[in-house]
Amino acid sequence: MDKLVIQGRHRLSGTVKASGSKNSALPLMAAALLCSTGEIKLSRIPDLKDVRTLSKLLGYLGAETSYRENTLNISTSNIRCAQAPYELVKQMRASIYVLGPLLAKFGRASVSLPGGCAFGPRPIDLHLMAMEKLGASVSIEKGFIEARTKGTCLKGAAIDFPITSVGATGNALMAAVLAKGRTIIRNAAVEPEIATLCRFLNAMGADIRGIGTESLEIEGVETLNAAEFTNIFDRIEAATLLTAGAITGSAITVTDVDPSQLITVLGKFEEAGCKIVTDTGSITLQSPDALVRSDVIANPYPLFPTDMQAQWIALMTQAEGASHVIDKIYHERFNHIPELNRLGAHIEIRDNEATVHGPRKLTGTKVMSTDLRASASLVLAGLVAEGVTEVLRIYHLDRGYECIEQKLNDLGAAITRESYQEFL
Ligand code: UD1
Repeated sequence: MDKLVIQGRHRLSGTVKASGSKNSALPLMAAALLCSTGEIKLSRIPDLKDVRTLSKLLGYLGAETSYRENTLNISTSNIRCAQAPYELVKQMRASIYVLGPLLAKFGRASVSLPGGCAFGPRPIDLHLMAMEKLGASVSIEKGFIEARTKGTCLKGAAIDFPITSVGATGNALMAAVLAKGRTIIRNAAVEPEIATLCRFLNAMGADIRGIGTESLEIEGVETLNAAEFTNIFDRIEAATLLTAGAITGSAITVTDVDPSQLITVLGKFEEAGCKIVTDTGSITLQSPDALVRSDVIANPYPLFPTDMQAQWIALMTQAEGASHVIDKIYHERFNHIPELNRLGAHIEIRDNEATVHGPRKLTGTKVMSTDLRASASLVLAGLVAEGVTEVLRIYHLDRGYECIEQKLNDLGAAITRESYQEFL
């Protein structure tokens, strides 16, 4: 296994490029299953474990993929199987994204249930509800979702989501584009990753309107064809890098971004005392002499993202005052807190609300990653901690951050990756 060894308290400076979005790349890749002819070319696909896992799953289904310099080519004309096995799905919950496309294209899909999650229950009922609304019969058998169209194909329908779900909106979209007739999705997720999926599907020949709004209208088409498409930037990675600047008292610039997708997070940095300057495609953050507390409540886009909650808590350990953090999407997503406290933070959790008392002097020690964003928060804390912090089990981090230690080192951090053996 690999760990990151961080020598803390180095000032950062300079410019770093944001990578392509992981959470957008995954549905784009799954959507390739809908293609009838030709080769899909996706650019700005980050080199990440999750991307490799989904590539493996596409390969298992019969697709041909090739990846070079952040460009992924996918040909799905020889799909021979509509079953996503447990061994691959358990590595990444987003594998559920193949459900909608397989069902729409092949009339059937068998997808292993994704199983548990490190930060609380993550049901898939809304994905299944959407498939049923589109006319599929869905059952759970021996740990697999078994879905079949009742006639020859899915039928357009009204899908009203009781709560917004990024994944269920994506799956519903990918199923509806080949359904017969019109589908209306209400209370659709408005995350940029979903708007990007809509744009890609339209580039393949789909007919989706209302892109970026909570009401999506899809007119089913008979076939979709290959397209070339460029993925969007990773807004969570960009915000994590900005937090690295803020927590180390530094000034850094993140380029290749669209600042409009980070408005809430940038506002929170300003509330914490940071100076933010945005330009077309770049964000510069200058940390103040003393950070001040800033409360956040994680909610769906465009509000503060749950995927930045753990990193924000790490930042608030260095801010003056008591900051309050609530996660309205994953109420129990607080696995990072005991580990941050081991570094010397003073964070309490009561009734799903974290209170971060700062500023605290952090001191390096060994800490353990428990999930992707929790890992990022530990790396951030390590950047400001006195001495050496070892972040163990960073396979979680590798799922979602492309070359993270290289990017931080280019800005002036001192991080090495080392392999180690765990005593079991
Ligand atoms: C996606 C992101 C993840 C992010 C999350 C919320 C990807 C690959 N992952 O996950 O990084 O943290 O959005 O922004 O894009 N829910 C149900 N039933 C369902 C589906 C979801 O009750 O069938 C609930 C979830 O438990 C959660 C909320 O809906 O409370 C939102 O989850 P959802 O938007 O679906 O998250 P994911 O798409 O899994």
